[in-house]
Amino acid sequence: MAELYPVSPEWEKRAFVDAADYEKTYERSIKDPDGFWGEIGKRLDWIRPFTKVKNTSFAPGKVSIKWYEDGTLNVSANCVDRHLIKRSNQIAIIFEPDDPKARARKITYRELHEEVGRFANVLKAQGVKKGDRVTIYMPMVPEAAYAMLACTRIGAVHSVVFGGFSPDSIAGRIEDCKSEFVITADEGVRGGRKIPLKANIDAALEKCAGVKSVIVVRHVGADVPMKSGRDHWYDEASKGVPTECKPEEMSAEDPLFILYTSGSTGKPKGVLHTTGGYLVYASYTHQLAFDYHDGDIYWCTADVGWVTGHSYVLYGPLANGATTLMFEGVPNYPTTSRFWEVVDKHQVNIFYTAPTAIRALMGAGDEPVKQTSRASLKLLATVGEPINPEAWEWYWRVVGDSRCPVIDTWWQTETGGHMIMPLPGAIPQKPGSATKPFFGVKPELVDAEGKTIEGAGAGNLVITDSWPGQMRTVYGDHARFMETYFSTYPNKYFTGDGCRRDEDGYYWITGRVDDVLNVSGHRLGTAEVESALVSHPKVSEAAVVGYPHNIKGQGIYAYVTLMAGETGDDALRKELVQWVRKEIGPIASPDMIQFAPGLPKTRSGKIMRRILRKIAEDDFSNLGDTSTLADPTVVTDLVDNRQNRQ
Ligand code: WT7
Repeated sequence: MAELYPVSPEWEKRAFVDAADYEKTYERSIKDPDGFWGEIGKRLDWIRPFTKVKNTSFAPGKVSIKWYEDGTLNVSANCVDRHLIKRSNQIAIIFEPDDPKARARKITYRELHEEVGRFANVLKAQGVKKGDRVTIYMPMVPEAAYAMLACTRIGAVHSVVFGGFSPDSIAGRIEDCKSEFVITADEGVRGGRKIPLKANIDAALEKCAGVKSVIVVRHVGADVPMKSGRDHWYDEASKGVPTECKPEEMSAEDPLFILYTSGSTGKPKGVLHTTGGYLVYASYTHQLAFDYHDGDIYWCTADVGWVTGHSYVLYGPLANGATTLMFEGVPNYPTTSRFWEVVDKHQVNIFYTAPTAIRALMGAGDEPVKQTSRASLKLLATVGEPINPEAWEWYWRVVGDSRCPVIDTWWQTETGGHMIMPLPGAIPQKPGSATKPFFGVKPELVDAEGKTIEGAGAGNLVITDSWPGQMRTVYGDHARFMETYFSTYPNKYFTGDGCRRDEDGYYWITGRVDDVLNVSGHRLGTAEVESALVSHPKVSEAAVVGYPHNIKGQGIYAYVTLMAGETGDDALRKELVQWVRKEIGPIASPDMIQFAPGLPKTRSGKIMRRILRKIAEDDFSNLGDTSTLADPTVVTDLVDNRQNRQ
């Protein structure tokens, strides 16, 4: 039996939702989604109020998702303008730079309003129009927030690409959404190391056509080449530009942003989120999951290049008039106390990070934590991957001094916001369990045949009805959207995750059941890493699987077959790691490379990953039936090699 961490009486009182509210509201939200979400939708400022709420179908071949479809609104007006009456001098964004000795910046809502308006006018002057796609490749600086909000102000659709992705990856994303505009910075800096953002954009633009304009924010003052006619320094382009820019009236179902994410096959998909439902869901979940009250200082450590940065650094908090902290750095620079020093420095009340960071810091011991006060902390939260109970317990006891609830939030790029998590005033926590569904979320477990599993049990996690934050389509490819998420189990959204439900109805996510890896909370397709490997001239074939990794959660294990006549040695291993970094980005670096004379294949030529996974996990006892393999001796070779290497 997992240990139960009850809701303290103090939290029951403080929180927006207690146990009784949760039960009642959950039931109502499921029975009457129109009534429920109709009320919740009013938390935003609408230009033309909606009269329709939910219009969704998961029916095979006809998947269509619309929320608040006849309403109109503007996201930047909801995240900025509407707070000017009450909070113009309140801090909207605290910026903590990579170097702790550099100056932190605090941006009020009034200043944010000016910055967003100015940025929007610069975009307009560059020719950006409603519906245009704008690629944003930025460090974690307030200008990234201005740029994103500026897009929403004029109805442009942003596609933020994480600063760790390679020129090839950027080019692919620019091409896929036919983006003609790019916003970047001269350089980024993380953990004292420079990231050549503008140089990466230059390299990407060598590989794809169609980009008319690149706006470059001067961040570190690096001397970067500027292509005349195409590249523009933001500080120069914005000189004398007015800060007033009328927000564009957008329909609730107009596209808001595209965010590329990896799947089990093919190239990353452009997940499309729209305006109204997304913002309702991001702001509502932000308020309830973190129990955000006026005046709280809130810090989510995610980069704006991921969905967590979209929903819970920017849109959710700002829609709620919160103070949100943007951190440029990393957990272990200059020391492993950095997170907690920043908490003390800015008196952070709510802290949201990834299990991989917690595990890494836990490895450095309690001392770096204990040197700091952390008395301001009220609530801790995690996202991105299952959190192992040891890390959960350390987070609770050492970081939170056994007084802050730990909120494990399960969700996905596709879901727009939290789906399963313990509301802090309502649901006792169990370390390692994301616990219970949020309002309006109908999870179900199904077996391989699609049969629903009732009560306690394990299966694949599906969601049987829509919620406002759900992705609407794969950009430019609705067929792929339906195929990926709705064809495995008809009439149900398939998450790609395995899950167990215990006797108390708690959900325990067990990880991906498809060929998607989760490395340090970052999602990667095995197929992407494989295709990067086979593009190397010495590689003939590659198969990639995940294996348990102490810090990263999952590590990347690559089986590589070389071209005839090539020999696999450590030098080639290093070269292949560099190759993958260059092709995709550092997050895709293989942790282990095993040279394999052959891969286990069925007679029809399909690679049997199940076997490769077992070997990578050092679990040789249970390789299953290998008699259907074209050449069963391949497996013996692989096992011998696995055991003999390093
Ligand atoms: C996948 C989604 C959601 C923002 C960050 C990742 C895994 C995410 C949890 C959690 C167990 C989790 C799932 C999911 N995941 N949060 N709290 N417990 N697993 O977004 O890149 O779209 O990845 O991350 O496997 O499917 P993403």
